[in-house]
Amino acid sequence: MPAPVPIGVVTVSDRASRGEYEDRGGPGIEAALARILATPWRPVRRLVPDERADIEAALRDLADLEGCPLVVTTGGTGPAQRDVTPEATEAVCDRMLPGFGELMRAVSLRSVPTAILSRQTAGTCGRSLIVNLPGKPSAIAECLDAVFPAIPYCIDLIG
Ligand code: MTE
Repeated sequence: MPAPVPIGVVTVSDRASRGEYEDRGGPGIEAALARILATPWRPVRRLVPDERADIEAALRDLADLEGCPLVVTTGGTGPAQRDVTPEATEAVCDRMLPGFGELMRAVSLRSVPTAILSRQTAGTCGRSLIVNLPGKPSAIAECLDAVFPAIPYCIDLIG
């Protein structure tokens, strides 16, 4: 049996990180991955506030130390002052893959006009692919399903 692949699952939320409400984003990502992935995998979880330094540290840790070929974030992609997940993602990535955000927004726009407000993006950080998803639990499966067909190939190319 091959060792399960570590996958980074990062919830970015001030309130969830303070314990003011339950994290629904992280479990939402894990439920979607459990449905999509055929290979054995294990989540490496992080719950951080909407602070650039904390997000960047979590992403670097998951990519460089934990060796996650895929890191998925949820939350902090909108236009509010505290939304800085795309900035943190860009800061740690070597290359941006804007097609991921473009496709996820296009798919989401079919059902929610406010999808235009998400600045979600993706990029490579060494041998890891980082993908941002919005914070709404309903957005997680919709966005991940749309881009997933490209993810294994991308991981092969950067690995
Ligand atoms: N995408 C999908 N599929 N479904 C949604 O409900 N909500 C939008 C957008 N993208 C939404 C979506 C809204 S209202 C916002 S403000 C942005 O994602 C950013 O959300 P975030 O700051 O929680 O990441």
